[in-house]
Amino acid sequence: MERVGVVGCGLMGSGIAEIAARAGADVVVVERDREALAAGQARLESSLSRAVASGKVPEAEASEARANLSYTTDFTRLTDRQIVIEAVAENEELKTEVFATLDKVVSDPDAVLATNTSSIPIIKLAMATGRPEQVIGMHFFNPVPVLKLVEVISSLLTSAETTARVHEYASGPLGKKVITSPDRAGFVVNALLIPYLLSAIRMLESGFASAEDIDTGMVVGCAHPMGPLALTDLIGLDTTLAVAESLYEEFKEPHFAPPPLLSRMSQAGLLGRKSRQGFFSYKA
Ligand code: CAA
Repeated sequence: MERVGVVGCGLMGSGIAEIAARAGADVVVVERDREALAAGQARLESSLSRAVASGKVPEAEASEARANLSYTTDFTRLTDRQIVIEAVAENEELKTEVFATLDKVVSDPDAVLATNTSSIPIIKLAMATGRPEQVIGMHFFNPVPVLKLVEVISSLLTSAETTARVHEYASGPLGKKVITSPDRAGFVVNALLIPYLLSAIRMLESGFASAEDIDTGMVVGCAHPMGPLALTDLIGLDTTLAVAESLYEEFKEPHFAPPPLLSRMSQAGLLGRKSRQGFFSYKA
């Protein structure tokens, strides 16, 4: 995988582009407009600089990664890619549109078309293309450069060869630990994580405990790196809501149903770190 494409340069896409470029690939990053592209590039640059400042990444490797990256709003620049990883917002219509476009522009008949969706069935995105055997889920965790897991999700139609190539790429050059999941909403991690986050939001909403006490309880009492409300702020309330809705739609189990507070805060634009206000406040 020497020619990689990443569609979407938000929280997840910028992290995926960063690790792919650090692994030595030529990476083309596509965003919908110039503004989103500039924001994504700034996010990636700030992550790389922090990695250098903390001694995690040598300056030479960061410079090489910068040279490996190019940014565009033109989808046709993906034509010669061997793998394209889609990481746009968690919206089925939008992702389906991206896959239909990728099917038209990516000319390599062996190219892998991967999605970082957290919850949308891979088969639905695969069926938007004429090559469902090459479509697969590659689910990363935020922050992508720090967290070592990738869930690989094959649909009913993904070929064994595509699955093997993606396993090899994620665990080799990208240095991730791979787990496999069936093509069910939430896969392995979110099917466990989302009910936990929703329970914390219900606890807050019912007045059972304060946001500070809920998070302190889990950080100090259970040694989690961050509490569930701070983690929801990190993931984004809109993304958490979208994943919960997909899980609820698929399984109809009450513990997947999003609490009204999560919906209202998302509707109000209180999305967590990315909007600087969620369950907690964040400085610019
Ligand atoms: N490359 C490599 N290393 C980097 C880096 C980069 N670009 N940027 C930062 N780092 C390193 C830092 O140097 C630091 O290393 P040390 O611990 O050795 O000092 C480490 O990564 C952590 O960096 P931070 O400065 O950000 O420090 P932190 O200690 O405040 O940790 C956190 C923040 C990593 C987010 C941690 O709190 C954490 O792991 N939280 C849990 C996050 C989690 O659960 N994510 C999963 C969300 S679910 C999801 O993503 C999927 C979904 O579908 C919803």
